Amino acid sequence: MAKIAVFASGNGSNFEAIVNNYGQVSLLVCDNPDAYVLKRAEKSQIDTFVFSPRNYKSKLEYEEEILKKLEEYQVDYLVLAGYMRLIGSTLLTAYANRIINIHPSLLPAFPGKDAILQAFEYGVKVTGVTVHFVDEGLDSGPIIYQEPVIVDDNDTYEAVEEKIHTLEHRIYPIIVQALVNKDFVLEGGKVKWVRRMG
Ligand code: GAR
Repeated sequence: MAKIAVFASGNGSNFEAIVNNYGQVSLLVCDNPDAYVLKRAEKSQIDTFVFSPRNYKSKLEYEEEILKKLEEYQVDYLVLAGYMRLIGSTLLTAYANRIINIHPSLLPAFPGKDAILQAFEYGVKVTGVTVHFVDEGLDSGPIIYQEPVIVDDNDTYEAVEEKIHTLEHRIYPIIVQALVNKDFVLEGGKVKWVRRMG
């Protein structure tokens, strides 16, 4: 059975959705000792590796420690769920084509932080969620799956946020399952689904 590690920095609602609807999370990696996701991990009795980047000289140094932990737990795939840091060459090399991320917009529109707010303030009528393979860029890499969310004229920012999060929690566990099932493959830098999702 394939083993996954989830990487998160904050609230951890996607982490919890994966734990409840996919299961079998071997390790949570967290770069913020105060993050609420750690409470969720404790409740679900999931092992954690917590670190503070400022205690290290470089990304190289802390990613080498993360890698040691991942090897100790024999982790096969890395699932980023609100991990607000770029993945460096250490992990990208060790886990080539085995790292995915979820982002709350229809990429390549609105990468980076506060994507839901960026889209709402722009006045888009359609936004959505993207799951993609991770490369060295910011919210870039081959797209695995996207689903749109309609922004109604009367929607508040909070209403849009709620729609996006509900969608994320529904689809991410399904995509994680599809990842470990090898239901999609990378071909010429693009994702091809070899079996129907879900
Ligand atoms: C999610 O909306 C996720 O898509 C986003 O952070 C949020 C984390 O929420 N990720 C990014 O913006 C990545 N660029 P959570 O901690 O409750 O899962």
